[in-house]
Amino acid sequence: MNAIVAQGSHHLPKEVKIVEVGPRDGLQAEKTQVPTQTKIELIDRLSKAGFRNVEATSFVSPKWVPQMADAASVMSSIHRVDATIYSVLTPNMRGLEGAIEGLAQEAVIFGAASEAFSQRNINCSIEESVERFLPVARAAKAAGLRLRGSISCCFGCPYQGETPIAAVLDMIHRFADLGCDEIDLADTIGVATAGHVSSVVEAASKHFPIDRLSGHFHDTYGQALSNILAALQSGVSIFHSSVAGLGGCPYAKGATGNVATEDVIYLLHGLGVKTGVDLAQVIDAGDFISRAIGRDNGSKVGRATLARLENSACSI
Ligand code: HMG
Ligand code: MG
Repeated sequence: MNAIVAQGSHHLPKEVKIVEVGPRDGLQAEKTQVPTQTKIELIDRLSKAGFRNVEATSFVSPKWVPQMADAASVMSSIHRVDATIYSVLTPNMRGLEGAIEGLAQEAVIFGAASEAFSQRNINCSIEESVERFLPVARAAKAAGLRLRGSISCCFGCPYQGETPIAAVLDMIHRFADLGCDEIDLADTIGVATAGHVSSVVEAASKHFPIDRLSGHFHDTYGQALSNILAALQSGVSIFHSSVAGLGGCPYAKGATGNVATEDVIYLLHGLGVKTGVDLAQVIDAGDFISRAIGRDNGSKVGRATLARLENSACSI
């Protein structure tokens, strides 16, 4: 079946890098503190499953994001796989110091294409955020870390509505000037649709190399997989996703997390696109973390596969 689909998909990238963001973006909104050991086990399972990039935690203010307060403990206890890059969020110099001490290979600075979101998320304007990122970027490079810039609200903002493409391009220029190796186009609230994604990616690729642009889609409106396909067809080959679709706020009705990694891998492998990741192991990791935090598994592929396995075990 793959071969048939692949024939019509010759324009798609042959390989995709999936950045597994579940341990950070997925868990950060959990209201109940997830035990550090559970986070470590999750990251270890993901490393074993073959991800070459895991976003492990954030060195941010624990007053703002209490769930990530154990960042240093997480980074000191995970079992690292040599080929895997462990990324951490670093909003300021204090965060970068944590990243260096924690032996992260990639520092992530995160800004927004929307003024209102910048204020709510990192408590400063876009202009101020870039001033704050400058020493972080320099120090990250000096320490030999990779640098990634994440742009929130590239499509829509919960406070300002639809984001003008010009605002996204402005942030791309700012992050490129800071020396970012990779830039994320994030649909923070999951409102984008496929045509909008193609337009933003095509515009963005005129200003930054497409092979270093990534798609970070949340699935709030159920559009994430079609948005990924649109981005893929426009040449994007790096995508972020969260095992078991972790994320979202349990108290905000309708809010969901990142697109589920299992579903993305199923789509990509079905298209004959390589990821280097073992789907069965990701499904196990998704089952593990969903049970550990008492949440329904947010991956359709995960749920269907686990149900099939359970049924076949019953019939033996
Ligand atoms: P602030 O309150 O303006 O800064 O926060 P501050 O310098 O006044 O610091 C406040 C307190 O935090 C102080 O403690 C600092 O020491 C401490 P106090 O003196 O009051 O006891 N502090 C820190 N502690 C540990 N590590 C640090 C650190 N920095 C300060 N690095 C700040 C500004 C940026 C720090 C704050 O707003 C913050 O931490 N924000 C993080 C918000 C966050 O993590 N959001 C989620 C990640 S972004 C995201 O999810 C989007 C993404 O997925 C893409 C997408 O989907 O859009 C990436
Ligand atoms: Mg996100």
